Amino acid sequence: MEIRCPVCKEALHREENTYRCIHGHSFDIAKEGYVNLYRHKSETSGDSKEMILARRNFLNKDHYRFLLEELNRCIDEDDVLVDLACGEGYYTSKFKAKDRTGIDLSKQGLRYASKSDKDGTYILSSIFDVPLYDRCADKVLTIFAPIAKEEIVRILKEEGRFLLVRPDEDHLFELKETLYEKPYRNETEEIAIEGLIEEKQLKIHQKAILNKEELHDLFLMTPYSNTTSPSDKKKLDSCDELSVTFAFIIDIYRKV
Ligand SMILES: C[S@@+](CC[C@H](N)C(=O)[O-])C[C@H]1O[C@@H](n2cnc3c(N)ncnc32)[C@H](O)[C@@H]1O
Repeated sequence: MEIRCPVCKEALHREENTYRCIHGHSFDIAKEGYVNLYRHKSETSGDSKEMILARRNFLNKDHYRFLLEELNRCIDEDDVLVDLACGEGYYTSKFKAKDRTGIDLSKQGLRYASKSDKDGTYILSSIFDVPLYDRCADKVLTIFAPIAKEEIVRILKEEGRFLLVRPDEDHLFELKETLYEKPYRNETEEIAIEGLIEEKQLKIHQKAILNKEELHDLFLMTPYSNTTSPSDKKKLDSCDELSVTFAFIIDIYRKV
C-alpha cells in the first residue's frame, strides 16, 4: 500500500526504519512495525491499554470467529483492503486479502497488530484523516468503531465495497440483563452514506457460554465499561457463567 505524507500529501518512501517524503518529512517505524503518522494532538488517543488487552484476550478465544469467517466470504485474495479502526488487529491479520492496511489511534493496539502480522501495514492515524491516496482500496471495513464517511468514500475505488459491522438488537442482551435494572436493546436503524449505496445487509448471530474471566474481558472491551455505575459493575462479580448472544449486522455498501 502506498502511504502519503500527512503534512504535504506527497508519497512516503521507506528507507530502513523510516518513511520519508520528497520534502524531507520523516516518520520512524516503531520496533513492532507500525508507523506513527498522527498529527492532530487534540483528538482521542484511541482505546486504552486495558481495553485493548481485554479485547485481545477475548477475541483470541475465537468467540467472534464466525463473524471473521462471514467477512472473509465477502473479501477476495487480491483485494487491497483497509481496516479503519483495526484495534489490535484480530480481524485485519486474518483477512484473506494479501494487501492489508490497518489504521487506529491506539498505540497499544497497533503494537499488538504489527507485532503479530508482519505482512500487513499498520498506521497510527485518525480514521478521519487517512494518509492513503484517493481510490486506493477495493474493500474498506469498519468493525465496531466510528464511521469516517468522507474518508471511506474518498479512499474506495469505483465499485469498491465498504463493510460496516455493528451490533444487532440482541447483541450481549444477557450481559445487560445481568448489569442493569432496565436492559435495553441496541438501535439498528439504517445508516446512509453519501456516495455509497447499500447493496446488502447480513445478520448473523450465535450464542456462547462464557466463564467469569471471559465475561470480565468482554465487559472491559465494550463501551459499557465506561458508562456502568460501580454498583452495577459489582453484579458481574457474582456471575460465574453466562449464556450470551452475539448478534451482528454487516452492511455492505458499493461506491457509485
Ligand atoms: C471497539 S474498538 C474496535 C476495534 C476493532 N475494529 C475490533 O473490532 O476488534 C474501536 C477502535 O476504534 C479506535 N478509534 C476510535 N476513534 C478513532 C479515530 N478517530 N481514529 C482511529 N481510531 C479510532 C479505537 O482506538 C479502538 O481501537
